[in-house]
Amino acid sequence: MSRRRRIYDGKAKTMFEGPEPGTLIQYFKDDATAFNAQKREILSGKGVLNNRISAYLMTKLAEIGVPTAFMRRLNMREQLVREVEIIPIEVVIRNISAGSFTKRFAVPEGTPLERSVIEYFYKKDELGDPMVSEEHITAFKWATPHELDEMVALTVRVNDFLTGLFLGIGIKLVDFKLEFGRIWIDDEMHIVLADEISPDNCRLWDLKTNEKLDKDRFRQDLGNVVESYSEVARRLGIMPEEGLNEGPTLVSGE
Ligand SMILES: Nc1ncnc2c1ncn2[C@@H]1O[C@H](COP(=O)(O)OP(=O)(O)OP(=O)(O)O)[C@@H](O)[C@H]1O
Ligand SMILES: [Mg+2]
Repeated sequence: MSRRRRIYDGKAKTMFEGPEPGTLIQYFKDDATAFNAQKREILSGKGVLNNRISAYLMTKLAEIGVPTAFMRRLNMREQLVREVEIIPIEVVIRNISAGSFTKRFAVPEGTPLERSVIEYFYKKDELGDPMVSEEHITAFKWATPHELDEMVALTVRVNDFLTGLFLGIGIKLVDFKLEFGRIWIDDEMHIVLADEISPDNCRLWDLKTNEKLDKDRFRQDLGNVVESYSEVARRLGIMPEEGLNEGPTLVSGE
């Protein structure tokens, strides 16, 4: 196995030291967790699909000028990314009511929202990732008002772009979660999109049937989770030619 130093072993990904300073290798695992990791399963092939889907979407976003930490996909399960200082906030943007939003505000699932709604959650597993306001974010200095403005502007831009991209392949982008980080270039701090964009953190419904093609299939025991992620990849035109169930890919090393 790899000799690379493991930086962080997360629920869905492992981060390894990258080949150059300031880089990391993001390894996509098949592990699925939900409800603050109370529900767990191995979904064979999920990591391969998320790696592909996230690499594709990050590349498309970079093409329209969205700054991202993504550099390139290395192999079936790994991508090279810029190491960033993660801002401990999950930015969620919702176009249609689903998930926790339906319960919190008693808005039935599937209700289109008149305007997209942005919510913030503090990334803290011990606290169950509580919802927070801009006031909490700036008062606790998780991000400055300027950084938060930047995160919101980027989130809206990503939402507009991805909504259209998915609509083009017969999919409704219901909601999704983003993470951002700081990088320094020539003593200047920049906010970039980090982590991943995949069916693990987006809600994606078939345009005609409303069939769920995302992690809710796992959360709600609907079955065919990996098949649905494959369907998303197939519609994006990036279905891996090779099988999904090959053994763990070695962390790329020279
Ligand atoms: N470019 C990056 N630089 C540094 N850290 C990153 C980068 N992209 C993602 N991360 C962080 O690496 C981890 C990815 O692993 P994973 O998503 O499996 O974590 P997790 O178990 O969901 O934990 P967390 O609650 O921190 O997200 C996350 O903590 C994420 O914030
Ligand atoms: Mg995560």
